[in-house]
Amino acid sequence: MIYLILFSLILKAAAGGNGLAMTPQMGWNTWNSFGCDIDEDLILSSAQAIKDKNLTSFGYECKYRYVQRTTSDNTTGAPVADPVRFPNGLKHVADQIHSLGLKANLPGFIAGIYSDAGTFTCEGHFGSLGFEEIDAATYASWGMDYLKYDNCYNEGREGTPLISEERYANMSRALDATGRPILFSLCNWGVDGPWNWAPTIAHSWRISGDIMDNYDRFDDRCPCTSVIDCKLPGNNCAMTRIIDFAAPLSEKAGPGRWNDADMLEVGNGGMTFDEYGTMWAVIKSPLILGNDVRNMTAETLEIITNKAIIAVNQDPLGSTGIRVWKKTIPSGGDLQLWYGSLVNSTWVIAVMNTSPEDQSTNITFSEGATERTQTYELFDLWDKDDAGDWGKSLGTFSGSLPETTVKSHQTKVFRAVPVSAQTKKDVSEL
Ligand SMILES: *[C@@H]1O[C@H](CO)[C@@H](O)[C@H](O)[C@H]1NC(C)=O
Ligand SMILES: *[C@@H]1O[C@H](CO)[C@@H](O)[C@H](O)[C@H]1NC(C)=O
Ligand SMILES: *[C@@H]1O[C@H](CO)[C@@H](O)[C@H](O)[C@H]1NC(C)=O
Ligand SMILES: *[C@@H]1O[C@H](CO)[C@@H](O)[C@H](O)[C@H]1NC(C)=O
Ligand SMILES: *[C@@H]1O[C@H](CO)[C@@H](O)[C@H](O)[C@H]1NC(C)=O
Ligand SMILES: *[C@@H]1O[C@H](CO)[C@@H](O)[C@H](O)[C@H]1NC(C)=O
Repeated sequence: MIYLILFSLILKAAAGGNGLAMTPQMGWNTWNSFGCDIDEDLILSSAQAIKDKNLTSFGYECKYRYVQRTTSDNTTGAPVADPVRFPNGLKHVADQIHSLGLKANLPGFIAGIYSDAGTFTCEGHFGSLGFEEIDAATYASWGMDYLKYDNCYNEGREGTPLISEERYANMSRALDATGRPILFSLCNWGVDGPWNWAPTIAHSWRISGDIMDNYDRFDDRCPCTSVIDCKLPGNNCAMTRIIDFAAPLSEKAGPGRWNDADMLEVGNGGMTFDEYGTMWAVIKSPLILGNDVRNMTAETLEIITNKAIIAVNQDPLGSTGIRVWKKTIPSGGDLQLWYGSLVNSTWVIAVMNTSPEDQSTNITFSEGATERTQTYELFDLWDKDDAGDWGKSLGTFSGSLPETTVKSHQTKVFRAVPVSAQTKKDVSEL
């Protein structure tokens, strides 16, 4: 089923530039587990692992050290691959990635690259500011399908939405001018409210400083508690903080334009199963793996291949979940209720408990929304049915859900399916 989800996305992607990211992009990125230490072998062996393990997450996007301008091309200013790490060049790497596609008439795997809307990348390699056209043209000539575009060394060219937008719009125009559909993943950490201007120039935009592999360790490196007018996005942002940031931004996202909550940390070891199994699907963040896909535990594989959860993220309506309420728990943390509208009159209902103790709650389905009086069947998407498929039925309800107990640091994600609409057994297809 993951195949179908991904393939349908790829088909749309292949249809032309404006049809990219009709559902949030899925993929893999080297940064969270490898930082700068990447080379051709890592990229190609990981792509092979994605294929062999049936993840088929289309392609990958690579950051840092992927590209360096060398002194050899001073005349044109075109980017040149690091000759030691990528001795065969980057077109070769992209060609190898594309050749992993499972069907001849589909791209199958897409290849991605990283640069920066500044003089240098965050790691001090050459950025693209002032070189947008030649860089975009070079990426296209290498066969790249995805650009992640960062915000370091921007020469102070931020502070108003217009100034920020100009830098990113230049690259967006340059990508369009190549004629190659290239997914534009804008990464300015939420500075100057990209959700207000990025939807017309990019397919996704980061809403926070960099994620940290931690659930709720808040520290001064990620100082903002609200995303609105956050002046210092920082880094090492705890996962639950990023979810708070996403809450007011739901309506900004939709097909072709997504709030990016940053790459997944699943498999990197800092959190428990329950902590990893949280809200990225409901808030419709891109799902970009950040672990070593060549060497995953069974638990990691379980989490990232939960097809009922992926179906929520990749739902064709592209409607982002909204937070209905957030209740402070006296001992710390909070309990949150989220709803999202899904295809075929079904709903996702998520209850997230960031407190140190288990919490029980009674949820009236009409809370925060119009009356829903139908009878629904309720499926727990982080539990398996008797056949071993994700999405265990909890029976039917009307008006109020059965009392829900959410463990400390757990997020219960349910799908409510109108009983009259049920034609299929597999909840990921409803
Ligand atoms: C991947 O999927 C194919 C086709 O469904 C199947 O034959 C193969 O066993 C699967 N491999 C793994 C590692 O799950
Ligand atoms: C390119 O520019 C660098 C830095 O100015 C310089 O060191 C290098 O010699 C130049 N290379 C060529 C081939 O001109
Ligand atoms: C955008 O690019 C054009 C030429 O490519 C350049 O003249 C202009 O200064 C750039 N604007 C910004 C804000 O970088
Ligand atoms: C896989 O990960 C384990 C634990 O980190 C490590 O000991 C092992 O060497 C890794 N194997 C490969 C093939 O990378
Ligand atoms: C939920 O409702 C049931 C039935 O009215 C009640 O017994 C239970 O105490 C309620 N639970 C909570 C957490 O309020
Ligand atoms: C929605 O319902 C229709 C009609 O029953 C069905 O064909 C379709 O597969 C369902 N799911 C989606 C994702 O459209």
